[in-house]
Amino acid sequence: MNKCNFYIFLLPFLCLLVVGCSKAPVTFVEVAPIIYKNCSNCHRPNQSGPFSLLSYSDCRNKAATIKYTVETRFMPPWPADYTYQHYIGEKYLTVAEINRICNWVDDGALMGDSDKIPAPPHFYAHSMLGKPDLVVKATPFFIKGDKHERFIMMKIPFENVADTFIRAIEFVTNNKKLVHHVNGHLLNYLPHQTTNLYKPPFVIDRDTAYEIAESFHNLNLTANDGSEPAFIGSVTNYLPGMETLIFPDGIGTYKVNKHAALLLRDIHYGATTVDTWDSSYFNIFYADKPPKRPTIERQLGTLGISQITPPLVVRPNKIDTFRTQATLPVDISLLTINPHMHLIGKSFWAYAVKPNGDTIPIIRIPKWDFRWQYFYTFKTMLKIPKGATIYVVGVYDNTANNPNNPFYPPREIREPVGGNMKTTDEMFQLIMTYLPYQKGDENISLQNP
Ligand code: HEC
Repeated sequence: MNKCNFYIFLLPFLCLLVVGCSKAPVTFVEVAPIIYKNCSNCHRPNQSGPFSLLSYSDCRNKAATIKYTVETRFMPPWPADYTYQHYIGEKYLTVAEINRICNWVDDGALMGDSDKIPAPPHFYAHSMLGKPDLVVKATPFFIKGDKHERFIMMKIPFENVADTFIRAIEFVTNNKKLVHHVNGHLLNYLPHQTTNLYKPPFVIDRDTAYEIAESFHNLNLTANDGSEPAFIGSVTNYLPGMETLIFPDGIGTYKVNKHAALLLRDIHYGATTVDTWDSSYFNIFYADKPPKRPTIERQLGTLGISQITPPLVVRPNKIDTFRTQATLPVDISLLTINPHMHLIGKSFWAYAVKPNGDTIPIIRIPKWDFRWQYFYTFKTMLKIPKGATIYVVGVYDNTANNPNNPFYPPREIREPVGGNMKTTDEMFQLIMTYLPYQKGDENISLQNP
């Protein structure tokens, strides 16, 4: 081959090399699937995100902040360490996805071929889960701007077309800033027991903690003949950032009568300086079958089955560590966990050690964030055998360097003895939802089809 022929021979390879190196700019065609999958369910009207990310122009307008928030992993919010344990719906971007978004912004946030941009997903406007079977409105509540935290109890009667079953009750509020938590129970009435159900009071501003029995009396929940409705505890819960769960068919569903009520033993509003309203509602999703396996809920730590050592008193200007643990008397299948701390939480770690010494990772949150308190559901049921010990370690930062410290200068922060937990008090809990173990559970997916 002479010299000239040799170059002609090389030419196609050189061309390939040049084309390969001068990459085409990243366009929205490649970025849209990442945004729609990881961001849009919150960034749409009526949901928590402060603006929508549902179209090219939505994203182009926010391109610089999108780049910043994904690079720093501020968005999507996912405080759990995704290298430690996996959960359903986990929200984190791979390094490749982060790079793709950043390159898109650096390349000028171009649209690309509009025909190739996928359509944004279809969402139901007033729910994170889809279209509910029934919407039950809570009594609108006026929150006075007097800088006081409030602990409200409510009775919310509702009627179903017939006796049936419920899969999930999702709490939705228009006042995400002030609703700190909700804990609701279900009351099932027989027709003759409804004599007082629709009589006031519906709302009580409770300054002190009521026992359930007292709330029956104070909210007029008992029938004229003195009989009480059937009670199912903790059917609906809400914490900042949380999404309601729906387990696969047959797990964790419960019965609901035609005549029923929600008893919010606790709806906790934070303090504010401005008068405002909360108009909350509950989305109810029915199940067509009775529960095959009702779930059990227990918590370690504050108000739970295990003590905290040392007692939860966080000294001013200190970073203190607390522990709690429990040994299982039976095999369980763990479905969901909810780690809970308040403002000065710094990190949270839970794991189990089996009798043979093996460790089962449960959750690690390296940087606690009060705003994102998910109920983390395992991808498949997590078996923890009889005799295993669950260990929970919580670190609290009560120094002036903690920007979330509610007090300056720092002062002692503790778990209150009895009474209500204010946001500025502390808590240390691992809430667990589980089933008694059955053979093969570890292969059962908790993902809804
Ligand atoms: C679980 C709900 C949720 C998800 C998922 C989510 N966001 Fe957000 N996002 C929020 C909320 C709430 C805020 C307001 C946060 C605040 O003010 O502290 C926010 C704020 C932002 C901001 C503004 C930050 C600022 O400082 O102004 C950007 C940009 C953003 N999100 C982008 C994204 C992107 C990109 C994704 C996906 C990769 C995403 N978000 C996923 C709820 C969410």
